Amino acid sequence: RHVVILSGGISHERDVSLRSGRRVADALTRAGAKVTVREPDGSLLPWLIENRDDVDVVWPVLHGASGENGALYSLLRANEFAYVGSRPTATKLAWNKATAKALAKRAGLATPPSIVLPNEIFRELGAKTVIDAVSRGIDFPAVVKPAEGGSAQGVTHVSNVAELGRALMTAFTYCDTALIEKHISGTEVMVGVLDLGEGPMTVPAVETVPNNGVFDYAARYNPGETTYYAPARLSPEVAESVAQQALHAYRTIGLADVARIDFIVDAEGKAWFIEADPIPGMTETSLVPMGIEAAGLQLSEVYATLAMIAAE
Ligand code: DAL
Repeated sequence: RHVVILSGGISHERDVSLRSGRRVADALTRAGAKVTVREPDGSLLPWLIENRDDVDVVWPVLHGASGENGALYSLLRANEFAYVGSRPTATKLAWNKATAKALAKRAGLATPPSIVLPNEIFRELGAKTVIDAVSRGIDFPAVVKPAEGGSAQGVTHVSNVAELGRALMTAFTYCDTALIEKHISGTEVMVGVLDLGEGPMTVPAVETVPNNGVFDYAARYNPGETTYYAPARLSPEVAESVAQQALHAYRTIGLADVARIDFIVDAEGKAWFIEADPIPGMTETSLVPMGIEAAGLQLSEVYATLAMIAAE
């Protein structure tokens, strides 16, 4: 099989994508696949078309808007290339944290209360008016995030109204819409969901305990800055409930092949849906690979199976 891995791109998560792409390529090579790693630049489509007979499947390991807004998947579909990943619409729904939360909520999952704030409103009404209104509608502490973004970039934890303005400006540098979400304290767990040909299945949830208390960009990608528990330290009942909720979210959003669903489990064992990642990190410190290994599976075999199924 010839797998074309797409990594890099022009999103804020370019570096993470390059690292993920390398790891997936290494694992597929170990599994005996022929692998080409490419940037999703302007010459991609002509190159794919020219090599159509030799390309079995494309695997966009493109975090951020480069891959997760679904546009590239649409292009691949329109040109009849098989790819690893979800349908464009599901990808786009997951990529936007506000729509993903709305879908999860409608499907019966708990998700922290939040306010969606477009930058336009902020600009039109002025910071003070908006911050006053927002602070009446949200409990602190809260988390301010770009509605579309990944790897915790542009995310700020705020403990009071005085910190909101700066946090919103930070979020708006990544996305035109910010999400202000009530902070739930508890155990952060991420669940990989895979479809290896027999319908979606979960791998063990991975728990993250960052040294500095916040699972930010540095804590995610610098080895040693976070302690990972794979599987997460949850009771068997809570672990099963979290797995079922991850599957439910995956199905509700319409995801396929491989995705990650993130939760915070509070002190009562209740899981709060935080987000769904349609192209989850695959780096050496990423959670889906850790979950796969915690399930006793080999990354090379799992990735080769995902590629093979998508190619069929
Ligand atoms: N969006 C990145 C890659 C992640 O959180 O895994």
